[in-house]
Amino acid sequence: MGLHLGLIGHPISHSLSPWIHNQLLKESLLDGDYRLIDFHSTDLSKEHITQLKNMNLHGFNVTVPYKEKIIPFLDDLDNEAKIMEAVNTVVVKQGKWIGYNTDGRGYLRSLNESYPEIMNDKTISILIIGAGGAAKGIYHSLVASGFINIDIANRTPKNAEQIALLKNNKTKTSCYAINEAEMLIENYSIIIQTTSVGMKPKEDGIIMNVDNIKPNTIVSDIVYQPLMTTFLKQAKKKGALLHPGHTMLLYQAQYAFEIWSGYNVNTSRIKARLQRKLEGNGNANR
Ligand code: ATR
Repeated sequence: MGLHLGLIGHPISHSLSPWIHNQLLKESLLDGDYRLIDFHSTDLSKEHITQLKNMNLHGFNVTVPYKEKIIPFLDDLDNEAKIMEAVNTVVVKQGKWIGYNTDGRGYLRSLNESYPEIMNDKTISILIIGAGGAAKGIYHSLVASGFINIDIANRTPKNAEQIALLKNNKTKTSCYAINEAEMLIENYSIIIQTTSVGMKPKEDGIIMNVDNIKPNTIVSDIVYQPLMTTFLKQAKKKGALLHPGHTMLLYQAQYAFEIWSGYNVNTSRIKARLQRKLEGNGNANR
């Protein structure tokens, strides 16, 4: 019996999820398929849900604009999804729909894999730029992992304050406007860019000037198209250690796949292929 999977969202025609999940199916030697389900609507109606139920999927991913809108149609929510009030993965278990959010976990795994030493000092100063869904997941995962100094900078500081509500009694978080954080940038050991600024086709976009970072600051950008964003290029010139966005994409997918299939797939080959694909180098399926 194959594993029938999919992605709901709009628009999704350029999504890399089918490619990644087909790779995960191949590596796990499981039969299955992963289809794109675009409802061509910003709302999610009962009719859409009926259509989805009739597809008899084992699970599906949820992306913009349905990550919050799917919640009323679910039977249960995992704790992380409950806290984030957003779902990116649904598993169908004995007819019941259960929602998860694997974004934050995926990010943390990718950061830990590239820079494991950061886990030794939970007091380092971290700056998250942006206050959307991705920022929320990342903030929550950092808090849950024990980091205690996490600031947030956003165009609209009020949105950053909403995210800071997820702190626990040990976390210290200040919220800033982008230009305020720019002036404090040398204080941070990790800077995490979570907005869509710099994404193709507007590659020149840069959310914040990082000329004054200290050398060896870890600079993450969750944008993966292009893989080397203008933000990362500028940080590199100042001696930063770079953390591009493709591994977060891969690991949020891997966690979703594990929830659906029970398989913890070794992703090292897929990671190399994904990097080649995003860099436009050679045959990505090799
Ligand atoms: P996601 O859920 O994928 O994280 P989102 O919810 O649309 O995406 O979040 C977008 C984030 O990027 C927000 O923090 C947004 O800032 P506001 O809260 O002020 O809206 C930020 N953002 C998007 N475009 C931006 C731009 N051109 N300049 C600055 N910030 C931007």
